Amino acid sequence: MNERRQDETAGPSATGDRPGLLLRVLAGEAVWPPPVWLMRQAGRYLPEYRAVRAQSPDFVGLCTTPELATEVTLQPIRRYGFDAAILFSDILMLPWALGHGLAFREGEGPVLPRLRDQAGSEALDRNRLAGAIAPILETVERVRAALDPATALIGFAGSPFTVACYMVEGGGSKDHAATRAMAYGQPALFAALIAVLTEASIDYLAAQIAAGADCVMLFDSWAGVLSPAQFRAHVIAPTRQIVAALSTRFPGVKVIGFPRLSGTLLGEYAAMTGVAAVGMDSASDPVVLAGLVSPKVALQGNLDPQALVAGGSAMESEAHAILGALRGRPHVFNLGHGIVPETPPAHVEALVKLVRAA
Ligand code: CP3
Repeated sequence: MNERRQDETAGPSATGDRPGLLLRVLAGEAVWPPPVWLMRQAGRYLPEYRAVRAQSPDFVGLCTTPELATEVTLQPIRRYGFDAAILFSDILMLPWALGHGLAFREGEGPVLPRLRDQAGSEALDRNRLAGAIAPILETVERVRAALDPATALIGFAGSPFTVACYMVEGGGSKDHAATRAMAYGQPALFAALIAVLTEASIDYLAAQIAAGADCVMLFDSWAGVLSPAQFRAHVIAPTRQIVAALSTRFPGVKVIGFPRLSGTLLGEYAAMTGVAAVGMDSASDPVVLAGLVSPKVALQGNLDPQALVAGGSAMESEAHAILGALRGRPHVFNLGHGIVPETPPAHVEALVKLVRAA
């Protein structure tokens, strides 16, 4: 497979005549060294984020104020020169935009009304979506205009299943027992909820692509709690539907899927959904996943966020092992889950240097 250094020229792509490394990898090219960005690269570990956040005590307000959301999206790009920026928003902004309540409480995480019946699902109003997401789309436009053409802009949504988890549980949960109980015990209600969220996710992601996102990512943080049959019904099928609908509207558009903790089902997910890349969580062995996933599908990940907190030789050996395992296949270097607030910014700088020097 072709291996090219970053400074070599390449053929045309969505970002003009100098496509960024991320889009090249999503198109199936093994680029060495691989592009690098980090999940939650904007956030509380950065002092400049905390300064903006202090002016905007309401997190939803931060996500819906284009000037501020643009600024925090760009902060990690200025500091580290990542190969991709990710829109600053949250996966729970979709239920918010459909009229479901959402509040972020200090130390408690997100709090939502608990959706437990048909009325709750029917109350979700797709007609509100376009108006509610307008400021988020303005952020996409502003960020794309501010970025170097070689830096990709990633739009995103939560997967229907993970968003449904937060709606059914009313916030975070250790075991998602109420959600799983609903999926088994009230299958029509749960399927209807997943269907509404799937349609709304298609509208939402299509709008982000139309506004300037170069590719999109589906965060499925809780996919790993499902049985194989439920995973096929509530993760693979909706993801396949979203990828197909986006590909019809935007031929060639790339979707990154991240069904976290899905273990060996990741191979089936990669084969069945049409995603261009799959995210690997830190518990997965990249060598094993490389054997399960077609080499046409890129792998993204998967340094443990706690190795980044520790830094030093522990981080270096983990990062080198991941790089070595995936050399020669399309790989996007990333973490296996989001950066945590305790992460020293200097360790992020060291990690980016290490990847670029690989
Ligand atoms: O990656 C980025 O830099 C882009 C922005 C982004 C955020 N959240 C910002 C955020 C993205 C892509 C997300 C995804 C997200 N949000 C997921 C999927 C990935 C994962 O972590 O599993 C989930 C499950 C959520 C829901 C969510 N949002 C929770 C559970 C919390 C509270 C926990 C926490 O870290 O505070 C949030 C809040 C949130 N979303 C913050 C940020 C920067 C922190 C808010 C703050 O400033 O206080």
